[in-house]
Amino acid sequence: MNDVTRTAPWQQLSEHRAEVESTTLRELFAADPERAESLTVSAGDLVIDYSKHRVTDRTLALLLELARVAGVERQRDRMVSGAHVNTSEDRAVLHTALRLPATATLVVDGQDVVADVHAVLTAMGEFTDRVRSGAWRGASGQPIATVVNIGIGGSDLGPVMVTRALRGYHDGPAVRFVSNVDPADLTAALAGLDPASTLFVVASKTFSTLETLSNATAARRWLVAALGEEAVPAHFVAVSTHAGRVAEFGIDPANMFGFWDWVGGRYSVDSAIGLAVMCAIGRERFAELLAGFHLLDEHFRTAPLEANAPVLLGLLGVWYTSFLGAQSRVVLPYANDLVRFPAYLQQLAMESNGKSVRADGSPVGYRTGEIFWGEPGTNGQHAFYQLLHQGTHLVPADFIGFARAGEDLVTADGVSMHAVLMANMFAQAQVLAFGRSAEQIRAEGTAEELVAHKTMPGNRPSTTILAPELTPSTVGQLIALYEHQVFVQGVVWGIDSFDQWGVELGKVQATQLQPAVSGTGPVSTGDGSTDALIATYRSMSKG
Ligand code: F6P
Repeated sequence: MNDVTRTAPWQQLSEHRAEVESTTLRELFAADPERAESLTVSAGDLVIDYSKHRVTDRTLALLLELARVAGVERQRDRMVSGAHVNTSEDRAVLHTALRLPATATLVVDGQDVVADVHAVLTAMGEFTDRVRSGAWRGASGQPIATVVNIGIGGSDLGPVMVTRALRGYHDGPAVRFVSNVDPADLTAALAGLDPASTLFVVASKTFSTLETLSNATAARRWLVAALGEEAVPAHFVAVSTHAGRVAEFGIDPANMFGFWDWVGGRYSVDSAIGLAVMCAIGRERFAELLAGFHLLDEHFRTAPLEANAPVLLGLLGVWYTSFLGAQSRVVLPYANDLVRFPAYLQQLAMESNGKSVRADGSPVGYRTGEIFWGEPGTNGQHAFYQLLHQGTHLVPADFIGFARAGEDLVTADGVSMHAVLMANMFAQAQVLAFGRSAEQIRAEGTAEELVAHKTMPGNRPSTTILAPELTPSTVGQLIALYEHQVFVQGVVWGIDSFDQWGVELGKVQATQLQPAVSGTGPVSTGDGSTDALIATYRSMSKG
């Protein structure tokens, strides 16, 4: 496998770093009055300003050259056409096929996957129409008031995030989510629910995930205790790639919505895994969500690299991570309904690119994988922005804002609260970039002993993503924007972004420790610390 660090653009970027580190954003803007305009790109309905990044024209040219020599375009084309780009699992990676229009054709291994996708979408549509209209009845004849999605990781985070993001479009039954094997999660989700009007969606690609099967079993007991065994078919449906395991669990495979091994868990909200979302917003709105994804897919597939938003943003992530020493990227949606977006991106980015060997198994000699974190603005401003503004870490920020509010209110002064929210977003990006110098602080008459404390260094990079409104389409566009950034980075770093071997050992070990923890086996786990902790746990749990 080619070592990207030996390529000319990588080596040139390493040398070029010092030049950028000795330049400030203030200087870059002063030197080029057109900078904001030239470093703004449109993708679908998204307008993306990346001018407040610590890059010069040369940095961008070298990063784009890096993408070319790493083979981003070739790998992108291979991915969307069904090549097995997930090499360690020898699988195609075709989440982009989940949002192709019904008129498209994509034959992979002799099978038209678009026809398969739309057959499942139709089945989901018919089912959710019945649930939403009340035609689907529980065992005692009641319509469904609450859908409870049981799943974890990609079988939870996507549906949770999108359902919450599209709160303004929610016109179906209430939807709740259970993921954690902590019994508190299911207990809280079931509180106040009537089994007779509750429908469970058990969502698991493999249908073997411990947390999901434990929660589904407990939920089933709860239902059977109230309505009897014969009530199960009317109250349990499944989403999975494994019909056999679904049947073994006791769910009629006729009530299963399928997908395929070429859909990764963290790329699956637009597959049948989105069933709970469709229950909430309906099949038409779900189609708009998919159309939004597709709009960005087409942009990614066809826009030249220098005007390709996921390529540019992905490369900026490489620049900060591998060259400038940044360890994380903060995502700051100025939309409260995107409260779960940072958590969603954590799985997307960190399960994908948290790798230290390349696709051929050789160790990487550079930093990979961005750590994503964040909270909606303005809440984060009153929590961790202090560190962003004056701390010692370099943390590139993504600001996400919308021009129109789904619903607006006014302040005591009669000002739109949405405008207040957005003014905060613009102000934060501005202060991060340009700060406030000691001279400016002094000129305001600040006492000398406070000047250092009040100085805002600035030169802190950010992207600002603006969209017209938080709609199904823009949510789809935003997700695809980040999916493709993750892909671009994986190609540059030479890693397989589509496996997740690193989460397996912990699962196996937890199963092995279970007898010791629950008291049915000896406390002899192989290391002194774990033995002592489990022994203490066992004696504490006796009360
Ligand atoms: O955490 C590992 C993982 O395999 C994720 O990639 C996946 O989204 C999650 O577990 C849930 O898996 P499943 O949908 O098979 O239950």
